[in-house]
Amino acid sequence: MTERAKSSEGSEMRILVTGATGTVGKPLVTRLLDTLAQVRVATTSPQTARERFGNAPEYVEFDFERPETWGSALEQINRMFLLFPPAVGVTPVREFIDAADRVGVGHVAYLSILGAEKLPVLPHRRLEKHLVRADLAYTFLRASWFMQNLSGIHRPEITADDEIYIPAGDGRLGFVDTSDVAAVAATVLTEAGYENRTLDLTGPESMDFDAVAAVFSDVLDRRITYADPSRFAFARHMYRRGVPTSIIVFMGIEYSIVRLGVSGRTTDDVATVLDRSPRTVRQFVTDHAELFSEN
Ligand SMILES: NC(=O)c1ccc[n+]([C@@H]2O[C@H](COP(=O)([O-])OP(=O)(O)OC[C@H]3O[C@@H](n4cnc5c(N)ncnc54)[C@H](OP(=O)(O)O)[C@@H]3O)[C@@H](O)[C@H]2O)c1
Repeated sequence: MTERAKSSEGSEMRILVTGATGTVGKPLVTRLLDTLAQVRVATTSPQTARERFGNAPEYVEFDFERPETWGSALEQINRMFLLFPPAVGVTPVREFIDAADRVGVGHVAYLSILGAEKLPVLPHRRLEKHLVRADLAYTFLRASWFMQNLSGIHRPEITADDEIYIPAGDGRLGFVDTSDVAAVAATVLTEAGYENRTLDLTGPESMDFDAVAAVFSDVLDRRITYADPSRFAFARHMYRRGVPTSIIVFMGIEYSIVRLGVSGRTTDDVATVLDRSPRTVRQFVTDHAELFSEN
């Protein structure tokens, strides 16, 4: 029988992954399955998750808003990847942190947002503060804007209209690939030395969306432009697309901040943890070119 990895307390390393079916969680589970840790996938839909990951991880039905699901999720867990699903309020996640603390989860890697320290009202920052107050070790993974937003929520306008349709002005971002965020999370959870630290996770380049559109045009060999709609036009368009109002409001605030030009910094944290350069936007578009082919 394979010897399982041990946590610093000497017990078997058992890692609970919340948001396991999300853009960070999927590559994270895949990476953790390559380690000796026992991985537990927490999801509202275990059957769907099993179809993706197979029989290697454990599965548990888990819902932040249903405390009766927390006990079996946390049983024997000593490490955890935690995220805040935007549709869930701060209170259930805070209470879940308290439950994890009570049962002795030793270390939480928490997915937060780059610059959270400057935004005290941001749910992510409120949860960071709660983790600091709790009696467990934490690592804040403050991530920049995910490249996967381009292949996710913003993909329809790229494929149908050859446009990046985002109201961010000429604000710049340090676009990060979620596979790099996942790789850092896997390292933080399985290696010692990251307790009570904050990592600012960005890609290697600070770019505005005109520059991103130029990369798309070059790689896809067709002209992709950056539309930069007004915030009102963006909100109306997303509403007509059927995007939930809470997400439209969140994006409106997010892109207003990007427009201010305060979101573009890059850091060396991904390179330092992974001992390699983070992935570029060009690599991302090249690897996922088929997702952006014309409708
Ligand atoms: N997008 C960005 O550019 C960016 C940048 C930095 C940080 N972030 C932060 O990253 C987080 C989102 O991460 P992501 O993009 O990997 O996730 P995601 O793709 O948005 O997926 C959301 C995940 O949350 C889970 N979930 C939803 N409701 C739940 C509930 N009631 N109980 C338990 N689980 C629930 C879903 O799991 P099931 O459906 O399987 O239950 C799913 O795995 C957010 O906090 C966001 O603010 C995003």
